[in-house]
Amino acid sequence: MTQDKARVAVFGAGYVGLVTGACLADLGHTVTVRDVVADKVTALSRGNVPIYEPELDALLARNYERLQFTLDVGEAIEGAEFVFVCVDTPPTYAGDADLSRVWTVVDELLRLAQGAIVVMKSTVPVGTGEKVRAALDARGLDHVGYVSNPEFTAEGTAVRDFLEPDRIVIGAFDGQHGDAVERLHAGIDAPVVRCDVASAEMIKLAANAFLMTRISFINEIANVCELVGADVTKVAHGVGLDHRLGSYFLRAGIGYGGSCFPKDSLSLKQLAANSGYHFQLLSAVIEVNELQRRRVVAKLEKHLGKLRGRRIAVLGLAFKPGTDDMREAPSLVIASRLLAEGANVRTWDPVADARTLLTGADQCETALEALDGADAAVLVTEWPELGELDWGDVRRRMANPLVVDGRNFLDPAEMRALGFVYEGIGRAAPPFAGLPETPERDAETEAEAAS
Ligand code: UDX
Repeated sequence: MTQDKARVAVFGAGYVGLVTGACLADLGHTVTVRDVVADKVTALSRGNVPIYEPELDALLARNYERLQFTLDVGEAIEGAEFVFVCVDTPPTYAGDADLSRVWTVVDELLRLAQGAIVVMKSTVPVGTGEKVRAALDARGLDHVGYVSNPEFTAEGTAVRDFLEPDRIVIGAFDGQHGDAVERLHAGIDAPVVRCDVASAEMIKLAANAFLMTRISFINEIANVCELVGADVTKVAHGVGLDHRLGSYFLRAGIGYGGSCFPKDSLSLKQLAANSGYHFQLLSAVIEVNELQRRRVVAKLEKHLGKLRGRRIAVLGLAFKPGTDDMREAPSLVIASRLLAEGANVRTWDPVADARTLLTGADQCETALEALDGADAAVLVTEWPELGELDWGDVRRRMANPLVVDGRNFLDPAEMRALGFVYEGIGRAAPPFAGLPETPERDAETEAEAAS
């Protein structure tokens, strides 16, 4: 299918909106990104990208002639054939997705032209499309189309995930609107899943829930590995080679964080509960993840006893490498627990700034500064910089050579050879070195034994 270049409005200049806007502009469309935060719009108009996402700066710069940023709704929707909704849907106190920003956008669309299509990219509960459709109709916008087109972009690889996706999901009430959104993606080589709106909404939630289930599953296997002396990295490798299972999302560690998984799991759990179904497996996935972060503290206590007054280096703060996003970062729970135990916490991250989130901790400029004089180091985010550290030098600088590797990122044998006490997650202890030698028995003992 071919598509003449279209005029697109994108509501929301966060991770999803900016990537969507930049990628659609890269496909040749003319895009206006609208946000409600004036500083953000000003910065973007000047070419300053307020978030850290690899390749995004270059993509925005390369397509600047087809991209505009505005605070003004009228300017954004003027002549727009597609309106992408990319606002966030954080959890409410009840665990449901808070759709207030989505509804604000719907309220702002009153002047949309005949034939325009609203495209929902924000992650929303199943049934939202139906409700938005009804709300559009009630506002006299029955001439406006509605399509669910969930995003599957991961932070750090979002641009590539958008332009080279595993699939494009398009759920529509009206096939022609689905066709139009499919044509808008011309130039992207990927299978297209066409379905109804509710199924498209559920595909997104189910995909995320499945990925989280894999993580919590391998984390529980890791916890059992620790008890029985197996190595979860070997186990995951051996399991993942089964083509029915695959190797992705089998990295054991301190659990998942980020702007999507924690909120989407809660939202799906509540969606099921609100519909009268207790989603037991998902409840367990969430609980395993919560407990997993706290295991780090127990590992430190195993070696150090009480943590009061101990100096602990927390290495990596962002919820994963390649992003500065601190939303639901496991580092926040770990550092807060350590502070609550009375530890002196020194943190480091190459891009994330957690000074306002972790007021009791000292955020250091370099990893070495955090490690100087530390009683223990906890590796929380597997930034490549941590693999490049001279750990021999680190060993000399630390007060106590204890490393708890929450991401199984470092080589246990190398670390132990350098003199570290190394603890990973679900990794075998040093190889069994045989039984201690039987002491030689003297003649008297032999005689006693014989009698
Ligand atoms: C995720 C989904 O991958 C993406 O499709 C969706 O659109 C948004 O949510 P993202 O949150 O950016 O993307 O990060 P992802 O790379 O999926 O990692 C999420 C969390 O899981 C991170 O904290 C990561 O450290 C953790 N993780 C991931 C593991 O603990 N083990 C793994 O094997 C993989």
